[in-house]
Amino acid sequence: MIPLSKPFIGEAEKAAVLEVLESGMLVQGPRVAKLEERFAQVCEVKHAVAVSSGTAALHLALLAHGLGPGDEVITSPFTFVASVNSILLTGARPVFVDIDEETFNLNSALVERALTPQTRAILPVHLYGYMCDMEALQAIADKHGLTIVEDACQAIGATYRGQAAGSFGTGAFSLYATKNVMAGEGGMITTNDDTIAEQCRLLRNHGMKRRYYHEQLGYNLRLSDLHAALGLAQMDRLAGFTEARRANAAYLNAGIESVVTPKVKEGYGHVWHQYTVRVDGGRDRDGAVRQLNDAGIGTGIFYPVPAHQQEYLRQKLGPMSLPVAERLAREVISLPVHPQLTRADLEHIVAEVNKL
Ligand SMILES: Cc1ncc(COP(=O)(O)O)c(C=O)c1O
Repeated sequence: MIPLSKPFIGEAEKAAVLEVLESGMLVQGPRVAKLEERFAQVCEVKHAVAVSSGTAALHLALLAHGLGPGDEVITSPFTFVASVNSILLTGARPVFVDIDEETFNLNSALVERALTPQTRAILPVHLYGYMCDMEALQAIADKHGLTIVEDACQAIGATYRGQAAGSFGTGAFSLYATKNVMAGEGGMITTNDDTIAEQCRLLRNHGMKRRYYHEQLGYNLRLSDLHAALGLAQMDRLAGFTEARRANAAYLNAGIESVVTPKVKEGYGHVWHQYTVRVDGGRDRDGAVRQLNDAGIGTGIFYPVPAHQQEYLRQKLGPMSLPVAERLAREVISLPVHPQLTRADLEHIVAEVNKL
């Protein structure tokens, strides 16, 4: 089976983790600081704050911006549910805006009509490693005094008009095992704002600045040095990984004819966390998945149920209709695009997809 994703664990990763074990300094040590430095460089921001997951990064970023009960945050329904849960965990209310069928991302033309006096923030999700229309979202945010917290969990290294994901607002990244750069588990907050960075540092470690002197209420959402060491070894591979993903996506786009392939607009630097096609026109998506799996091709459905149709969210927020997200949830199939694919794997994927 050609797996949908395959974490790359080389000698550098193994040696880096072993070195931490032998050092005896397992948490919040020098590798965490180094990983933060590397992330800040890649994202072209002043600060990066390492935390234990992408969910923690989103949650703390929203808390640091003061989001809480009575506030509304605009986001996409077509995302991993962590984007939405992080809003709910602050006590704020998620407000869903439908997506664009070509980019799978928030339809920026629909955002303004979803604003209310309670709207405080926009949380765009750069799904599959493809950035949202940041110029339009930034203009809306500026006009209405809104905060932007980017869910860049799938988008390390992605760009919009040459500017890095995570540098438009406060950014949140995931280092989960299948991500383009992984640490097993982990997350990162990126920002140019000194106060937000300081708040995130306090919130991740029980509000502690000086050892056992606590300035405020906080959490334990720290990253371990073991994870940071793994992440650092991966950061050295980021450029190569991204190049390989781009080449694989270009090969698939050139060969696949039977389904709708993903297009990238001018000015966007896609990093292909997922390569996602659409089985459109009411065709049998689940049958297509079975056919591909039987032919030895791993697939993923991201995501089969849009957030507003998850039962607990439907109960909390009430029923709503977001037709594009609902249709794409029935049409999408993600195919392998990871850097470890061989030319033979790619040829096999193209041939089998074209039999659908
Ligand atoms: C779009 C999106 N947001 C948030 C998250 C949450 O990240 P984590 O799993 O590291 O908590 C993920 C990761 O799966 C994601 O893909």
